[in-house]
Amino acid sequence: MTDVARALLPWYDRHRRRLPWRAGPGERTPAYAVWLSEIMLQQTTVAAVGPYYQRFLDHFPTVADLAAAPLDQVLTLWAGLGYYARARNLHRCAQVIVRDFAGIFPDDEATLLSLPGVGAYTAAAIAAIAFDRRAVVVDGNVERVVSRLAAIATPLPAAKPEIRRLADQFTPEERPGDYAQAMMDLGASLCSVTNPGCTICPLLQLCRAAAQGEANRFPVKLPKAAKPTRRGVAFWLRRGDGAVLLRRRPERGLLGGMMEVPSTEWSEGLPDANAIRAAAPLTAEWRPIDGLVRHTFTHFHLELSVVAATVRLGDGRLGRWVTLDQLGEVALPTLFRKVVKHALTTATS
Ligand code: ADE
Ligand code: SF4
Repeated sequence: MTDVARALLPWYDRHRRRLPWRAGPGERTPAYAVWLSEIMLQQTTVAAVGPYYQRFLDHFPTVADLAAAPLDQVLTLWAGLGYYARARNLHRCAQVIVRDFAGIFPDDEATLLSLPGVGAYTAAAIAAIAFDRRAVVVDGNVERVVSRLAAIATPLPAAKPEIRRLADQFTPEERPGDYAQAMMDLGASLCSVTNPGCTICPLLQLCRAAAQGEANRFPVKLPKAAKPTRRGVAFWLRRGDGAVLLRRRPERGLLGGMMEVPSTEWSEGLPDANAIRAAAPLTAEWRPIDGLVRHTFTHFHLELSVVAATVRLGDGRLGRWVTLDQLGEVALPTLFRKVVKHALTTATS
C-alpha cells in the first residue's frame, strides 16, 4: 500500500460522502450507474447532478433502455445540465454498448476509452470504481490534492504530466475504487480551493504545500485570458393562443440538437437593424423588452436582448409552437429558460 493510500483510506471509511451513485462499504455500484454519474459529473457539481441522475435511472433502468430511447427524450431529461454534447455521446455510447458489447460494460480501461464520450478520466474512473481495477484517476480535485502534496511549482496546464506521474505513484493496488473516490472527496472537502483544512487533514504529514504553510498557492495557474462578451437579439414570438415559437438548433456546434428561442447570431458587436430583420422568424412589429438576459458559456459571456411580437395564427414551418405548460417537456437549455422567464416577467417598452 502507498503512504498516501494508507493515510487516506481510513479517513474515507469514516468520512465518505453518501452519494446516490456510491455503494456502501464492501459493495460495488453497477458499471452503468458509475458511467452515468461520471458523465454527468464532468463540469457539473455533485449537488446539481443528484436529481438528474435519479431521473435518468427512473426512465432508463438499464443501458438497453437508454439505447432504445429517442435522442430527444434524452436531451429533454438532460436540459439544464449543460455541455449537451455529453448527452448525445451518452446516447451513442449506450447504443454501442448494446450493439458491440451485448449490453455489458467492458471492464478494462483501454476498451472503455474507445467508447463515445469516454475520455481518459472517465475510463479510469469506471475501471476503478465499477470494477476495482487499478487505474490512475485524475480530475480537477485530484489535480489539486496531488499538486499540493508535492508542492508542484510548474503552473497548470504544463504541470499535467508531472501530476499524472505522481498520481500514479500514489495510487495503491488495494481498493483502487475507494482510493479514487477518497481523493475526490478530500479535494471536495478538506482540500478545498481557497481554504484547505490542513490541520485536520489525514495527509498533513505527507504534504509539502502544508509544510510550506501556503497550501492555497497550489496548483499554480497561469493567468486566464478574459472571456469576451457576445451579444445578440432573441425573438419572443407568441401565437394568439399563447404558444411560443421554438426551433431546433443544428446538430453540430454549441447546444447542438437542443431547442432554442430564435435569435440573431451572437457576436462581439451588436447586430445592426438589417441583421436583426434578416434573422427574425417573420416580419412583424417587434417591440423590445426591457433589460438583458445574461449567460456564461465556457468561452464567452452572452448578453441577449429580447424583442417580442404576436401573431394570430402560427405557421408550423417556422418551428415548433409550444404552450407554456408544455415547456417542461422540451429540451430547452438554461440560457433559453432564462429568456422565457425574462419575457414572461418583464413588460415591453
Ligand atoms: N466527482 C466525480 N465523480 C465522483 C465520485 N465518484 N465521487 C465523488 N465525486 C466525484
Ligand atoms: Fe490539502 Fe492541506 Fe491536506 Fe495538503 S494537508 S492535502 S493541502 S488539505
